[in-house]
Amino acid sequence: MEIRTVGVVGLGTMGAGIAQVCVQAGVDTIGREVSNELGERGRATIERYLARGVEKERLTQAEMDAARGRLKLTTDLADLAGCDLVIEAIVEQVDAKTVLFAELERIVSREAILATNTSALSVTEIAAATGRPERIVGMHFFNPAPVMPLVEVVRAELTDPAVHDAAYEFVRRIGKEPIRCSDTPGFVVNRILIPLLNDCVRVLDESRVTPEDLDKAMLHGTRWPIGPCALIDLIGVDVHVHASEALWESLREPRMAPPPRLVAMAKAGLLGRKTGRGFYTYEQ
Ligand SMILES: NC(=O)c1ccc[n+]([C@@H]2O[C@H](COP(=O)([O-])OP(=O)(O)OC[C@H]3O[C@@H](n4cnc5c(N)ncnc54)[C@H](O)[C@@H]3O)[C@@H](O)[C@H]2O)c1
Repeated sequence: MEIRTVGVVGLGTMGAGIAQVCVQAGVDTIGREVSNELGERGRATIERYLARGVEKERLTQAEMDAARGRLKLTTDLADLAGCDLVIEAIVEQVDAKTVLFAELERIVSREAILATNTSALSVTEIAAATGRPERIVGMHFFNPAPVMPLVEVVRAELTDPAVHDAAYEFVRRIGKEPIRCSDTPGFVVNRILIPLLNDCVRVLDESRVTPEDLDKAMLHGTRWPIGPCALIDLIGVDVHVHASEALWESLREPRMAPPPRLVAMAKAGLLGRKTGRGFYTYEQ
């Protein structure tokens, strides 16, 4: 099954990055947002990153122009009718996603593949809201999508193996590193990373070490490329707490539950880089 045109629904942090990856890989892409302003904001983000790529000589001006030309915007979901693959990257709420998938199902062809970029929801539950769960997969990109190579290609309970293979091949075609996995909580990376980062934060309190020294310990004692506190600041304390809560809900393992220190930071607005303060302070 050939994938010629891709739809990306939601052009926020992830959707804009995913659309950028697609157009840079030569794929005609239609981005759908809820308003023209939000669509244009997504386009501006993509163009800013492409322009930075030209400055750093990662792509030529001609390649940037060609990539820009492959992106179309719409607010009308019906414009996605001709897409062979639609990647959903809207808010992380199961009701919003199931409503969207039910609408998409009515619009696209029977051969189209529908993918969700959810981090923590059940792909199987989203698929069950449609009449064709066999055509639905998870495509879990990492943030920032244009930079992070990995994409977890998630097989839900009823996904057709041929659809899973086609999604995997598409991810390879757009220059990413796919892995095949099943629809288990946190898939692979978050299932490992979230409890691990929670353990790191608990050590902060137990051993009364500073965030600087904890990061130093993991950088120089294990050669992690980034310390755990700096990584949580980069992910966003709120995003990490939300993902921990979702894993805790599904698995009920104590390590999954967000440490009280992180919950307090989230409530206080100490969200990390995006608010200028988390474990560290950042210039805005
Ligand atoms: N941010 C991350 O680090 C990250 C990483 C991997 C996966 N995810 C997942 O990706 C998805 C999107 O996350 P995000 O961080 O990009 O969120 P975001 O809030 O930055 O963007 C969501 C966008 O979707 C738009 N939207 C909402 N409903 C819509 C609809 N029906 N049609 C079209 N657009 C709609 C919103 O206007 C917004 O611009 C979530 O499922 C999230 O769990 C996020």
